[in-house]
Amino acid sequence: MEFLRELQRTHNCGELRAAHIGQEVVLMGWVQNRRDMGACIFVVLRDRYGLTQLKFDQNAEPEAFGIGSQVRNEYVVAVRGVVEDRGENRNPNMPTGEIEVLVKQIQIFNAAQLPPFHIRDDIDTAEELKLRYRFLDLRRAPLQQKLILRSQVNQIVRRSLSERGFLEIETPVLANTSPEGARDYLVPSRIHPGCFYALPQSPQLFKQLLMVSGFDRYFQICHCFRDEDLRADRQPEFTQIDMEMSFTTPEIIQDVVEHMLGAVFKEAKGVDIPAKFPHITWHDAMNRYGSDKPDVRFGLEFVDLTEEGKSSGFSVFHDTANNGGVIKAIVLSPEEASKGDFGRGRLDKLTSLCKLYGAKGMAWLKVKDDGSWQAPFGKFISDAEHATLTAKLGVKPGSVAFIVADNFTTTCAALGALRLQLGRDLGLIDNSKYAFLWVTDFPMFEYDQEAGRWFAMHHPFTSPRPDDLDRLESDPGSVLAQAYDVVLNGYELGGGSIRIHDQSVQKRVFKLLGLTEEESRTRFGFLLDALTYGTPPHGGLAIGMDRLMMLLTGTDNIRDVIAFPKTTSASCLMTGAPSVANPQQLIEANIALIQPPEPENRDA
Ligand code: AMO
Ligand code: AMP
Repeated sequence: MEFLRELQRTHNCGELRAAHIGQEVVLMGWVQNRRDMGACIFVVLRDRYGLTQLKFDQNAEPEAFGIGSQVRNEYVVAVRGVVEDRGENRNPNMPTGEIEVLVKQIQIFNAAQLPPFHIRDDIDTAEELKLRYRFLDLRRAPLQQKLILRSQVNQIVRRSLSERGFLEIETPVLANTSPEGARDYLVPSRIHPGCFYALPQSPQLFKQLLMVSGFDRYFQICHCFRDEDLRADRQPEFTQIDMEMSFTTPEIIQDVVEHMLGAVFKEAKGVDIPAKFPHITWHDAMNRYGSDKPDVRFGLEFVDLTEEGKSSGFSVFHDTANNGGVIKAIVLSPEEASKGDFGRGRLDKLTSLCKLYGAKGMAWLKVKDDGSWQAPFGKFISDAEHATLTAKLGVKPGSVAFIVADNFTTTCAALGALRLQLGRDLGLIDNSKYAFLWVTDFPMFEYDQEAGRWFAMHHPFTSPRPDDLDRLESDPGSVLAQAYDVVLNGYELGGGSIRIHDQSVQKRVFKLLGLTEEESRTRFGFLLDALTYGTPPHGGLAIGMDRLMMLLTGTDNIRDVIAFPKTTSASCLMTGAPSVANPQQLIEANIALIQPPEPENRDA
């Protein structure tokens, strides 16, 4: 009988158990490995469901044995055979380890050359090689499991949102700019010489326009494109679970998200997460944790010493506190401090970390057994100040504290990084926890000294708080946004806001961001128009699907949860993208290159 035409798979490679002993089965898959024992050859067959051992027996099935002896790792084969008991050779480490299949018929669909690395769960091969042969790396179970889970999460998200009345609507990929703070990827237009599409940084404007059209509740699982500096949790092309609602409030949107994430964690991970996530304002998060996405699985909250610093004998503290700066400290209890080494070398490294984040220095102190301090700035402070700081910091013999004095932003950034480092180094982070948080009340704008202008902290379509509207022009730095981020274990999982639905407010925001009336019209005229044709109040949010998958699968590398990811230099090692366009394409797109590509790229 012929495989495929007459013989279909009866089972997959993860399925057979003792209950199947005696049955004839057909399996198809890849050869994981083979052991040649003379008159018997054992082959482990793999598919995405698992592994099954096959037995080729020269005496019992000489014809099958003959073909079986030719197979090598990664050959793709079909076999028909009978499930047998492995008896005392059972392998308890393998779900199908009770049985093996005595092969009666085999067909080799495709031979395989020796792969560039061994396809095993626990390989230690350079990532570059694995990315170049991604199609082989994706045969490994750890990667397959992550993509299988991702597929499940897609389904759960669709169901959860559909049940709540959300419509899945697709929006264009060839679009105009949709600013989210990154550079656009441009696509030249052949038909309109000199014109370019921008790939969407998010579907933000389209989803708002769907609200103007009356669709009420929209979602989409969509690709977004951002040309920005990449990191372990950022890709140039990534996926958002994007949603928008009309006639809504932050509370309603947050409830939808909590419900959806609850379903995802329960069904995909078997984990119950809180029905409601705690809230913290942006200012509080910065003040207490030095981050707008604090990891609250551990403590080490900052102690504020600004008031005390005003009368300090240490000039750094004194000058900072009296000139609008802040002084903040992280304190390790004796127990926490005993988990680490705080010798000179280590303290120098921690100081360097603070400096990396812009701090001019970091003042540490260690409390000795007699209550006195070992601290580089100790000689500058009086006994009274020593007593005040001891009380405020709550330090005891064995405690270690780290103090930074600088402007608010720098102090928070430096100590925020130090806090995370200490949390990790001292093993204070409980990795079994999922600590969700809503961060609210973000400032609308941040000032960029270099550019000399205000930028939107989220995006320019975010609504300011109504009470703050009258300060939009007079004191933009004090205006808070109706924006909220959902944070999980120190990652920004998603962000959203209530949008501006009043044209005059939108125009004022554009103006503040430095757009002239004409620029606003050219870039966003359609939005400004739409806002005059009956726009409901609306708002929404987008979750980073890749980050969600990272957290669900416990990886710190975003590439692990994307089938065909790009490197941190935004290239695909497998396909060679981006690559040089051929001259004819450039002519058709009406593009002349200022600088011809380097010869090595030209061959790519
Ligand atoms: P935002 O820019 O915050 O909001 O993006 C939403 C979420 O998308 C994820 N994300 C990324 N993931 C991987 N690689 C990247 N380069 C990347 N950039 C962002 C993050 C982030 O929280 N239109 C708004 C949403 C809204 O207001 O509704 C937006 O795009 O997890
Ligand atoms: P110095 O007087 O420069 O030797 O500094 C004495 C101590 O204060 C050193 O441990 C410095 O790292 C620390 N220090 C310097 N600048 C700051 C700052 N802005 N905040 C906290 N500590 C600082």
